[in-house]
Amino acid sequence: MNTFTYSYPTKVYFGEGAAKNLPAELAKVGKNVMLAYGGGSIKKNGVFDKLTDILKSAGKNVIEFSGIMSNPTYAKVQEGAKIAKENAVDFILAVGGGSVIDCCKVISAQAKIPDDLWEFETQKHGSPSEFIPMGAVVTAFGTGAEMNNGAVITHEEKKIKGALWGAFYRFAVLDPAYTMTMPMKQVISGAFDALSHCMETYMGSPRETNLSDEINEACQRNIIKNLRATLKNNDDVTARSELVWAAAMAENGMLKIGKVTDFQAHMLEHQLGAYTDCNHGQGLAVIHPVLYRHMLPEAQAQFARLAVSVWGISPDGKDENQLADGFINALSDFIKEVGLPTKFSEMGITDTDFKAIADSTVLTGGCCKKFTKEELLDILNECR
Ligand code: NZQ
Ligand code: ZN
Repeated sequence: MNTFTYSYPTKVYFGEGAAKNLPAELAKVGKNVMLAYGGGSIKKNGVFDKLTDILKSAGKNVIEFSGIMSNPTYAKVQEGAKIAKENAVDFILAVGGGSVIDCCKVISAQAKIPDDLWEFETQKHGSPSEFIPMGAVVTAFGTGAEMNNGAVITHEEKKIKGALWGAFYRFAVLDPAYTMTMPMKQVISGAFDALSHCMETYMGSPRETNLSDEINEACQRNIIKNLRATLKNNDDVTARSELVWAAAMAENGMLKIGKVTDFQAHMLEHQLGAYTDCNHGQGLAVIHPVLYRHMLPEAQAQFARLAVSVWGISPDGKDENQLADGFINALSDFIKEVGLPTKFSEMGITDTDFKAIADSTVLTGGCCKKFTKEELLDILNECR
């Protein structure tokens, strides 16, 4: 295991009725609270009313910031930062899935500096040090964004969907009941995103098993089991609770302790998103098996371990290569079983500039195979 320093700034309130902790948290912050949310699902399922009641009882002046779209844009960040500055916002309450939660991380930083944050971070390599404090109420599980300080933002003019670094949330409210109205498509895609985070972390270095990897294997088994249970019964609150926490675990840094992560599938999917605005978990589902076929020679030992420990494939009579192949087949079969797409065309992506996507994809230092842009283009073409 690599050397590491570990500390964790986000307090998690998990489980039924977790929002009862909000009054005590809100008592610690200023009067002007930005209530940030997406396209309106929280108005339909009653979460908006519950939270505005809590905010009003706490005596807060509520500034609404709505319409944060999936794959949030840098323009939306700027809109939010302007509103935050104009209203002297003291605290941001982000209510939604990864898109709302990410957008607010960057708003919290952009509202505090005069520079353009994108240029500041990506060109000048600066790190923001001042933020509007924030809390998150999770309504869609999957990304684990509530428990890290990375934000994935689409810069439409530059055609880049990339990471910006913002603040950690002071607290995250994870009440599985708030996620029960998620459309099934999003439940499946969120669960696959969480599984992908586990795999992408597992495939990094060091490549021999360590404690982080053993916890990771348990997370993967848990996600697979509980997505299957959810598909049998979408009202299964126990299965949903497991998925909500497994998704948070997958991206809260615990599985990354002592490791350098891979995340090549994510880098490719993010750039696909920059060009097509596609659903994140679905894009990953198409890319993963194809990318893993290309990685197989380098990743054989890790794939073989996953075959046995996660997918329950018997090692009897099989060599490492057969087991590794069995892992990719099991993953592909699972993608089909849960109804995720296996080709970009099934996602409505038929005509886009795949070469530009490959050329603009970040090649990750932790990937167990050093890809070239040409090979990434081959992978994208195989996904069509
Ligand atoms: O906008 P509303 O109306 O709220 O609807 C949303 C949206 O349409 C809906 N939804 C959320 N909660 C709901 C609900 N519908 C009914 N009932 C509820 N309780 O779900 C749809 C998708 O929401 P979104 O937030 O876009 O999805 P997700 O959580 O998958 O987030 C995707 C974004 O996160 C980024 C992705 O790239 C993408 O931009 N990621 C962030 C990461 C991070 N910061 O750690 C890691 C990930 O790898 C990922 O890249
Ligand atoms: Zn992801």
